Amino acid sequence: MLILRKHFAMHRKWFATFLAGTAAAVFGYFFWAHQYATRWPGGSSPPGLILGILGGGIIVFECLLWPRRMMRSWRWGSARLWMKAHIWLGLLTVPLILLHSGFVWGGPLSTILAVLFAMVIVSGIFGLAMQQYMPRKMLVDTPLETIYSQIEQAMQMALADAQNLVLATCGLPKESSEVSAQPQPSKETHSLPSKASDKRDGGRVVIGASRQVELIPGQLLRTPVPQVPVANCEVLRQKFNATIKPFLERGRRFRSPLSNRSRSAEFFRQLRAVLDPEAHLVLEAIEECCEQRRQFDLQTRLHWWLHSWLWIHLPLSMALLVLMFVHAYVALKYW
Ligand code: HEM
Repeated sequence: MLILRKHFAMHRKWFATFLAGTAAAVFGYFFWAHQYATRWPGGSSPPGLILGILGGGIIVFECLLWPRRMMRSWRWGSARLWMKAHIWLGLLTVPLILLHSGFVWGGPLSTILAVLFAMVIVSGIFGLAMQQYMPRKMLVDTPLETIYSQIEQAMQMALADAQNLVLATCGLPKESSEVSAQPQPSKETHSLPSKASDKRDGGRVVIGASRQVELIPGQLLRTPVPQVPVANCEVLRQKFNATIKPFLERGRRFRSPLSNRSRSAEFFRQLRAVLDPEAHLVLEAIEECCEQRRQFDLQTRLHWWLHSWLWIHLPLSMALLVLMFVHAYVALKYW
């Protein structure tokens, strides 16, 4: 359902306006046709002309939504009122323009106009559906959602956290080349076990990292890691460098089993089976970072669907507006 039932009360008057407008147009058109015409009246007939002017006027009004949004100082009526008027008057143009056309395509210009009009209406309905559906889907499927523009920054922090956990659990790598690839502390307060924020926790050390992305304080990562490097931990380091790190860095762009939740669960189950139980809590924290990456990837996709339709709706609306004036000019010139 395009307009959710709980919001429908707010739309009732506009829905009634839409029904009344449609009924008046249909009645007026067919009454006139029955009385005075031998075929369906077109745009040059009295009812066709009146409906064309009304439909065209509404299309001009529909397009005013754009400057209204752009110009912050220009605030007539609330955004909600504009949106309700936009939806219901936009839908009202469908019967008005259909009757105005007299159910024929006409020449090439009016055919292009009709196709543009149909695409604007369909993209508008699609966009409205996205606006109703996506926020609810995000709430359910991406509980770790963050501000869209800060996804990559938040992910870099999660990666730095995960690298520090591997380093603290497995110790320094044997190869000197790997030593130089040690994680760099990121912008947020980040700490390795030697820092003052560490807490002793029954033979473990708690790594704490208070995260902050710009002005938004984030969650506190507190993962207990063993005080001394865990034996036979190289497999964790190797899997981390080969599979986990590229996935955390690039997400779905890096074709990885970790981008699928059940394959990821299997990957970590196998890793857990070969790792010392001492490292299991750390593994859990890293698995959580992968979940975060998956949710951020999903959030990016949903964000795309939520906003990209406007790149069709808006330019086509502007093209419709321009062509509509050309159509009116040509029609009146040769009337
Ligand atoms: C004659 C038909 C229509 C025209 C010319 C038109 C034009 C426009 C324009 C110019 C915008 C502003 C874009 C922007 O601010 O970036 C817009 C936004 C929008 N339109 Fe339409 N539209 C029409 C019909 C419809 C219909 C029938 C619906 C839905 C049933 C609809 C749904 C929307 C929605 C959801 C937005 C986004 C508003 C927002 O998020 O602020 N439109 N339209």
